[in-house]
Amino acid sequence: MKINVRIRRTGGSRGSYLQSYSLGLEGNRTVLGVLLEIQAADPSLVFRYGCRFKHCGLCGITINSRPYPACLAEVRGDLELAPLERLPVTADLAVERRFYYELFRKHEVALPPSEPPEGNFALSSLYRQLLSCTECFCCLATCPRFELQGSFPGPLFFVKVAQALLNPLKPKLKLPITRKDLEQCLDCRRCRCPYGVPITNAVQYLLSIS
Ligand code: FES
Repeated sequence: MKINVRIRRTGGSRGSYLQSYSLGLEGNRTVLGVLLEIQAADPSLVFRYGCRFKHCGLCGITINSRPYPACLAEVRGDLELAPLERLPVTADLAVERRFYYELFRKHEVALPPSEPPEGNFALSSLYRQLLSCTECFCCLATCPRFELQGSFPGPLFFVKVAQALLNPLKPKLKLPITRKDLEQCLDCRRCRCPYGVPITNAVQYLLSIS
């Protein structure tokens, strides 16, 4: 299959521009596989990835207008690729990630481990479901209220706070979110998680204990 790939690139003296590539593919390929192939021919292309297999969350980008992890997306035809919306671009398809960890520090929320604790604990089903969050930032890119400098911390923050509060090893944590923010989030429900993390259930849980 021959495909055309248009990539929104940012950086250097050219600012932001579209670059087109065409390549022939054999067999099933993921978007990450296509990016790696393009990068082999054009090493100036910047994007993030880590595990290459749905685990690290680093490869979230906009694929044909939809935020999605590149290693999860199978190629079915031409591609339009861009960095995640609502997030500051570092270069090309890579977005800044540090700001989010600073937000957790500001609210004194320790990020819980993404593995279940060892030991004979009764783990709630919601806690188990929240463990599938890979912090790919795709939910932030679909949240109409999230702004980098705004006061609304966004769905990823809610998921991580719920995960921290449900972790059986965690000491009690003060809820760093207002009821109003949670209620507005429940009214909206436009964010999407490519891994199927039940964001709404996390928000409902936080509301129930606030
Ligand atoms: S490269 Fe790790 S989730 Fe895609």
